[in-house]
Formats: sequence, C-alpha cells, structure tokens
Amino acid sequence: MYVCLCKGVSDRKIRESVEGGARSWREVQQETGCGTQCGKCACVGKTITREAVKTE
Ligand code: FES
Repeated sequence: MYVCLCKGVSDRKIRESVEGGARSWREVQQETGCGTQCGKCACVGKTITREAVKTE
C-alpha cells in the first residue's frame, strides 16, 4: 500500500529502509523521501517506521 503519494513510497519500502539500517523516522525520510513534500503521510510513515524498528 502506498503511504506517500507525493514520493510514491509504500509501507514495504519503509520496512526495507529499516531493514537496510535506518533507525529513525528522520533516516527513513532521508532515504525514501517519504513525508518530505506535503507532509500528509508523516503520521502514518512515522508509525510504520516505529513498528518496523521495534521488530528488527
Ligand atoms: Fe507524503 Fe505528500 S503524501 S509527502
């Protein structure tokens, strides 16, 4: 599912980013671009990142 329409980032892409070493929402943002345009997806993106980091 797409989390960020502006940058075309899916929840899977966020998880992959965490698997690849990102440890915070900021790092996921830097890597994927998620939440860096209109910002509407930031809340969902942050939640998915947090869950992914927890289960790593
Ligand atoms: Fe993610 Fe706009 S939907 S920045």
